[in-house]
Amino acid sequence: MSNLLEIKDLYVNYNTDEGVVHALNGLNISVEKGESLGLVGETGAGKTTMALSIMKLLPAKVGEITGGSLVYDGQELLSADEKVMKKIRGDKISMIFQDPMSSLNPTKTVGKQVREVLDLHFKNLSKAEKQEKIDKMFLLVGIPPERQNEYPFQFSGGMKQRIGIAMALIAEPELLIADEPTTALDVTIQAQILDLMRNLQKELNTSLIMITHDLGIVVEICTKVAVIYSGQIIEVGSVEDVYQKLHNHPYTAGLFNCIPDLKSDAKRLTPIKGSMASPDNLPVGCKFCDRCDFKTERCEKEEPKMYMNGTHGIKCFKYEDKWGE
Ligand SMILES: Nc1ncnc2c1ncn2[C@@H]1O[C@H](COP(=O)(O)OP(=O)(O)OP(=O)(O)O)[C@@H](O)[C@H]1O
Ligand SMILES: [Mg+2]
Repeated sequence: MSNLLEIKDLYVNYNTDEGVVHALNGLNISVEKGESLGLVGETGAGKTTMALSIMKLLPAKVGEITGGSLVYDGQELLSADEKVMKKIRGDKISMIFQDPMSSLNPTKTVGKQVREVLDLHFKNLSKAEKQEKIDKMFLLVGIPPERQNEYPFQFSGGMKQRIGIAMALIAEPELLIADEPTTALDVTIQAQILDLMRNLQKELNTSLIMITHDLGIVVEICTKVAVIYSGQIIEVGSVEDVYQKLHNHPYTAGLFNCIPDLKSDAKRLTPIKGSMASPDNLPVGCKFCDRCDFKTERCEKEEPKMYMNGTHGIKCFKYEDKWGE
């Protein structure tokens, strides 16, 4: 397999009236063709910022990529102009937005919006063929096809989310970025959507970046996992590497402790103590050190590298001597 997407040492700031928010701080990750990556991390870790950076859809004037590189299928996106990006967004990469209204136009019926995506991607299909595809997709995401002539405001939040999903999937993209696509949905629809993504991957070899808080979803659909903290990937590996729980970053171990385990009789979950360092005032050393039980003096002063053991990488000094760089 070859890398479809390669992000190297990416830095992103939000310049606000209150100061500079350092949202991504040297983020590295790659996605191969056909691979499905689960990106996991707590609120504010930089997940949506990473997704918007790939699409070059960071909020104008406020969001700024200050360093690094972002190569898609051999092309550097950071130097690509808006014309090129429009083509890539239309043709190659689709995103399911965390906020469904980011992808929906309030002034057009939802059917028209889905059809516009098809018109762009499948120019050779007849009108009837397109309509058939659209009806099928509406059914798949659990919206009665008769409702195509309604406007976004006539749908509930979960339904709007599913229309956003329909728009992203009907394009049959090479890379699908799904930003918490199922959080607002009930479990039956959630299972259906995950099935849909799985099929898309199997049939079309689509690459997927699945952003989620839910370590359970990652196991169901992903082959690779990346854990993000303070705008950096602090652990990466195959699902087996990470979920075996033999070696984990102390933060990942903390995330696992937050999942209820039906088999154990533990009365309560162990949340990770403290909160993430403020992105306008990050520690110089390890970004997690203030919350870590294994912290040494060095962790406060120096940032650990990503130490590797085969496909498994952990950004913590605990692995410096055991694993390579
Ligand atoms: N438009 C913005 N202006 C200023 N700061 C922002 C903006 N968008 C995000 N941030 C800040 O950047 C950091 C990363 O935010 P981001 O939305 O990428 O996190 P996330 O991992 O997607 O969180 P969540 O799980 O809540 O969706 C946070 O500190 C957030 O407050
Ligand atoms: Mg987000």
